[in-house]
Amino acid sequence: MAAAPTLILGLETSCDETAAAVVRRDEEGRGEILSNVVLSQVKDHAPYGGVVPEVAARAHIRHLGHLAEKALADANLTASDLTAVAATAGPGLVGGLLVGHTFGKGFALAQSLPFIAVNHLEGHALTPRLLGPCPFPYLLLLISGGHTQFQLVRGVGDYTRLGTTIDDALGEAFDKTAKLLGLGYPGGPQVEALAKTGDSRRFDLPRPLKGRPGCDFSFSGLKTAVREIVQAQGSITDQLRADICASFELAVSETLADRTRRAMVMFREACPDTGTPAFVVAGGVAANARLRATFTMVASSQGFTLIVPPFHLCTDNAAMIAWAGAERFVLGLSDGLDAAARARWPLDTVSAPMVGRGRLGAKA
Ligand code: KG4
Ligand code: ZN
Repeated sequence: MAAAPTLILGLETSCDETAAAVVRRDEEGRGEILSNVVLSQVKDHAPYGGVVPEVAARAHIRHLGHLAEKALADANLTASDLTAVAATAGPGLVGGLLVGHTFGKGFALAQSLPFIAVNHLEGHALTPRLLGPCPFPYLLLLISGGHTQFQLVRGVGDYTRLGTTIDDALGEAFDKTAKLLGLGYPGGPQVEALAKTGDSRRFDLPRPLKGRPGCDFSFSGLKTAVREIVQAQGSITDQLRADICASFELAVSETLADRTRRAMVMFREACPDTGTPAFVVAGGVAANARLRATFTMVASSQGFTLIVPPFHLCTDNAAMIAWAGAERFVLGLSDGLDAAARARWPLDTVSAPMVGRGRLGAKA
């Protein structure tokens, strides 16, 4: 166990955000973000309607060095003050992963620091513990552009996947719906804004897998249903757009409520003596106010405490990577410089991989 406070430089390059941060973990396990810089590449990818891996990797190369310098400067530290360097090693787009991972290893080697290869999903999973007390075990729902999964979080490095998507990620379903309606990328915020003025009962969209055993998801049928409505209507008016967005959001909300209740039952079966466990929702889609209201309702009815990290820590960032690095480091879990970047890297090593492919490649 490390005795002194741990100061970790974290690097994140797995998708379309280039990010660097410094996080401090004190001897009692309390976290503090000393700096957190994120450069979004949304503008670079918007013309293509989605993330282009080659464009992303080149942008990471251009920006990571000066962002790491800024993270150290913002924290009033120099490299020699650091305890270790942590970089996302997967899952994600392999070009970007190689940039951050190789930079992190080079930095660690040059400064004679330990290196920690972090699973991006573990970064999301452990974020609530950076913000305050969040004892194990707890239930995590990760809903982003690349991932949609329930994890039972028993400890650092100890995860059981309870459910996942068999096709599209939820953020992807929002983005594809937006694209079908001629809205820009990323689509989630625009679908949410338009849904506010729409009639959520106008279109009876599917609630995929609702009522089925388990807590897996499927969103590709929802996207197909939206496409069929758009094709059948011929011309798209503003009111039609708003009504589709509202109907889509309602279908997603009811599906998530059903899947979440089931995940909570599965959690209770696996961990019967947990009192009022935390239910943590992370990922960009957690920004959606209607879905947050749904989670609040389901959590309170099932005896869970809902934790949704602030938006800038729900979406991709390096503070979560630095924190996961700190949690691993104090347990003696650092890595050699031969650690490889992994496009696929499930958090839970026992669950079978899913067959579907999404924005970030095959589902982990
Ligand atoms: O976690 P994130 O920033 O990046 C990764 O995918 O890794 O999530 C981005 C996703 C996008 O698909 C975006 O459309 C969705 O989160 N999103 C939203 C909202 N804000 C962002 N979806 C629904 N409602 C929102 N307000
Ligand atoms: Zn993410």
